[in-house]
Amino acid sequence: MCGELRTDHVGATVSVCGWVARRREHGEHLAFIDLRDHTGLLQCVVDGAHDLRGEYVLRVTGTVRPRPEGTANASLDTGEVELGDCSVEILSVAEPPPFPLDDRAEDVDETVRLRHRYVDLRRPAMQRNLRTRAAVNASLRRAMDGQGFVEVETPMLIASTPEGARDFVVPSRHRPGTFYALPQSPQLFKQLCMVGGIDRYYQIARCFRDEDLRADRQFEFTQLDAEMGFAGQEDVLAAVTVAVGAAVEAVTGDPVSDIGRMTWRDAMDRYGSDKPDIRFGMELVELTDVFADTGFNAFKAPSIKAIRLEGASASTSRSRLDDLTDMAKRWGAKGLVWMRAEAGGEDGAVELASPVAKFLDAAELGAITERLGVLPGDLVFLVADEWAMTCHVLGLLRLELGRPAVDEGGLQFLWVVDFPLFESVDPTSGRPVPAHHPFTMPHEEDLALLDGDSDALLEVRSQAYDLVLNGWELGSGSVRIHRPEVQRQIFGLLGIGEQEAQSKFGFLLDAFRYGAPPHAGFAFGIDRLVALLLGEENIREVIAYPKTQSGTDPLTKAPTAIDAGHLAELGLRLLPPTT
Ligand code: AMO
Ligand code: AMP
Repeated sequence: MCGELRTDHVGATVSVCGWVARRREHGEHLAFIDLRDHTGLLQCVVDGAHDLRGEYVLRVTGTVRPRPEGTANASLDTGEVELGDCSVEILSVAEPPPFPLDDRAEDVDETVRLRHRYVDLRRPAMQRNLRTRAAVNASLRRAMDGQGFVEVETPMLIASTPEGARDFVVPSRHRPGTFYALPQSPQLFKQLCMVGGIDRYYQIARCFRDEDLRADRQFEFTQLDAEMGFAGQEDVLAAVTVAVGAAVEAVTGDPVSDIGRMTWRDAMDRYGSDKPDIRFGMELVELTDVFADTGFNAFKAPSIKAIRLEGASASTSRSRLDDLTDMAKRWGAKGLVWMRAEAGGEDGAVELASPVAKFLDAAELGAITERLGVLPGDLVFLVADEWAMTCHVLGLLRLELGRPAVDEGGLQFLWVVDFPLFESVDPTSGRPVPAHHPFTMPHEEDLALLDGDSDALLEVRSQAYDLVLNGWELGSGSVRIHRPEVQRQIFGLLGIGEQEAQSKFGFLLDAFRYGAPPHAGFAFGIDRLVALLLGEENIREVIAYPKTQSGTDPLTKAPTAIDAGHLAELGLRLLPPTT
């Protein structure tokens, strides 16, 4: 291969194939060609190169020789050698590439890159990303096979799955007017595998969700999906840790030591997020009790917390503080109090300067300084609101102010456990909104709370857990309900009637009547894992043929219209376009 030749190979006659990365002519009869394949570049010295152009596909046969004294190139792995006495065979000619394939490609408009993705894939960064992804898949398969998991392929044309996004649907030609859904995940099929005696199932599964696209979201993505029979949370966490650890080791060479755990409540309390980025501190500090009898109206609230930004006062302008206040309001806060810590008085004690300082008494200001360990030069931000809003706003502010770049701070994994069973209670219907899918098992000791009022319902913890990496949700899972009476009660609370349950998940409920083992499972996003392992901010960079932010594929132009005959065959007629 081009990138493999070294001084050890001097004297050998070799043939290398690849693309012309660069051509330099030195007079009539001497030219240098840098030939590229996925392993790197090789300088080939040829007799004139007037018929060779960039990205031509060549086979070059020649003799490996050391580069002349003083011409070695330390920035190339092959920089000490070159190929001489070359004969060149043109395998394909090429038009000039639509964008340069070196580092400058980073600045090329993404639509242009995706439109010519086959050219983009030749770039070293894309080669590295796709090859790393393949290595991750291979290591995951080895890790799962090694633990006795069985790979089962589940169908792509199914009835709807309850993951909470919109389904992509596929019209049926044989039964016009009916539709398949593409799986949002293999959830129900993997549970059926448990009933079917596949006690350790896994799949590298393609999933489809019609949701708004973001840096960490595509319409179609890939999960490592797993389910275990006769097993609970600890078994799943252990098996997933082995798999993730194998993937990390395959890419970085370093094993993952034990992954820490945090309850959902602690994660919210300390980081204001159910996916805490623990690469940095700046934890939220509890101040509610300090202001129990405050005279400051804005702080007469059920929850007050604060964060401290070390040493940032001098570098943070008043207009930046105003911008942060606007952001906090956009996130839902009623306001944001900021304080600048200054060394005041003769004893050098910290003094907190703030437009609202005059509304606070010395004990309150003293408690803020003490709880947050404030030093002169620091900035402090406080929010007062309902507990969930205080956490939410300060959690986002913490990320805005402190989050390291995607490729900094190493890989910080965290299990978040004991998620609440319900996210909220809908004020109009009075019904709880499930935090995960409706087959998630509550904690045994919280089952009695299911009979209580809405406050009690929001206290119910589920046996659901997430794996977090550097502040991204990598994966989710849960212990499933396998007891019909518990399932009936949950469906009842969610307002899923007998009939609806039967029509939506009847096949699963039926299956459970024939002997369901207790079971639990998990799925994590491989796109997200690979992106973070490579320090990429967008999962599109680790997907061969992704969709743009607006959900289109500039290469194939999908989605496209289909012709009238095809529509008729499917029994479909289009409405006139809206707007
Ligand atoms: P969940 O819905 O949390 O769980 O999905 C699991 C993981 O899949 C990844 N993911 C995505 N990646 C890219 N683009 C998307 N649109 C996208 N949506 C999800 C995330 C996420 O954490 N059936 C359950 C798992 C279980 O309970 O066993 C499920 O799918 O990394
Ligand atoms: P106000 O009394 O509404 O004029 O607010 C006085 C200051 O307190 C302003 O700087 C507001 O941004 C801030 N503020 C108001 N409500 C809150 C709140 N709930 N939490 C934090 N700061 C607040």
